[in-house]
Amino acid sequence: MTHRKRAYAVIAIIGLGAGASFATQTELAQVFSDHQQGRAPRHRPDPSIVNVPRTGANLGDPLSDLTTDEAADFNEGLEEFASEDTAESGLGPIFNNVSCVACHSTPAPGGVSTTFVTRFGRMVNGHFDPLAELGGSLLQQSAIDPTAREVVPPEANIVVHRLTTPLFGAGLIEAIPDAEIMMYANVAKGDGVSGRPSIVQDIASGQTRVGRFGWKAQQATLLTFAGDAYLNEMGITNRLFPLENAPNGNTALLAQYDLVADPEDVVDPATGKSDIDRFADFMRMLAPPAQLAITGEARAGQNLFAQLGCALCHRPMMDTGPNSSKALHRKSVALFSDLLLHDMGSLADGVAQGTAQPGEMRTAPLWGLRARGPFLHDGRAATVDAAIRMHDGEAAKARDRYNQLKTNQAAQLLEYLGCI
Ligand code: HEC
Ligand code: HEC
Repeated sequence: MTHRKRAYAVIAIIGLGAGASFATQTELAQVFSDHQQGRAPRHRPDPSIVNVPRTGANLGDPLSDLTTDEAADFNEGLEEFASEDTAESGLGPIFNNVSCVACHSTPAPGGVSTTFVTRFGRMVNGHFDPLAELGGSLLQQSAIDPTAREVVPPEANIVVHRLTTPLFGAGLIEAIPDAEIMMYANVAKGDGVSGRPSIVQDIASGQTRVGRFGWKAQQATLLTFAGDAYLNEMGITNRLFPLENAPNGNTALLAQYDLVADPEDVVDPATGKSDIDRFADFMRMLAPPAQLAITGEARAGQNLFAQLGCALCHRPMMDTGPNSSKALHRKSVALFSDLLLHDMGSLADGVAQGTAQPGEMRTAPLWGLRARGPFLHDGRAATVDAAIRMHDGEAAKARDRYNQLKTNQAAQLLEYLGCI
């Protein structure tokens, strides 16, 4: 039976079962669980993605000092990260893409892409309403059946694009202690720069933590982000996010097309891991972008970076704390971010998310800048130079100083940014 026919059969069953009255929640739940099926296997990736020798020198390679077990976890994690879902394996009913690597692909698995996702909501008197009852704030722009496809509802007066963020070095960022991030928030910085930690409830650990991932620092751990992305980008329910998204909030449409029993991603008894654990393994052990040698012009640019006040937010270095993995234990992390939220004025996207206000954005880590673009959360800047000129809010003073640089000095700064 095709999915379409199966869905009609269910409606008929509800009609019969409920008689003249409406079906109760329990009756409906029973009908749906009878009608839901088990999850089919995911599509394994093309061997050209997973079976490449990884020397540790390139983006997409694992951290260099992994144990044999960790290296095996990295490889299996990569395979899951690159595997594709289909309607039979639980994709959707509404989704944005079919695999993690579909968006995190360039220049290697774990990277970026020029694919945008769309967020919408309604701003009334300075208050942001994510329009959750209409399927917001994240739009799922695809569906396993065209009838279920979401649209931006007419109620929305904020519609923004977000670029994919890179995952290289994500495990090191995860291993930075909350206290290290909070400590710097309280340091007096000058230039009108402040910075606020994003305090979030981490679903995976149940703890109150400092958020650090995403444009709004909306998640604290890779496991929670993996669960969130699996549900919200691909429509795969999992133990952390067990409820499907209803298309624009329409639960009848959801019931019609949600054919695989939830949660779709379950622990494999053979390994004790589910897909979200595998995604987290892969991301945690991805090596950071390697810094190029800072010489000549770039060295002058490095001094300018500090003098202009860029380093007030783009903190060149933080340290990880004690960690059970040697590869993450007390390491320097040259991420060029304080992982704090800053009021960015006209640059911000107007979306409230986690504890981030509409005007606040997380300082974007600048490492690996040379391997991506366009820049800024919505890709509004085609070049690094344009991205700097579009800074506003707390970064207005640093931007003004950049605008006043002589051409050769600006070139030195850009040379430096191309090395980090
Ligand atoms: C449709 C494209 C798309 C797919 C599919 C996708 N992502 Fe993402 N990813 C994004 C975008 C866009 C962001 C930035 C999100 C934001 O902050 O709004 C992001 C950010 C992230 C981050 C935060 C990184 C950081 O430091 O900011 C993690 C972790 C992540 N994704 C993991 C995953 C995993 C795991 C999967 C597969 C389950 C996945 N993503 C699937 C587009 C995608
Ligand atoms: C007040 C804090 C602050 C200061 C000061 C600051 N930035 Fe930023 N920077 C940010 C934030 C926040 C973002 C992300 C904003 C967004 O995309 O909405 C960002 C983004 C960037 C990006 C784009 C990164 C990407 O991945 O798209 C570049 C490049 C950059 N900054 C360079 C600089 C340089 C160079 C300076 C000094 C002239 C500077 N910044 C000063 C906070 C700051």
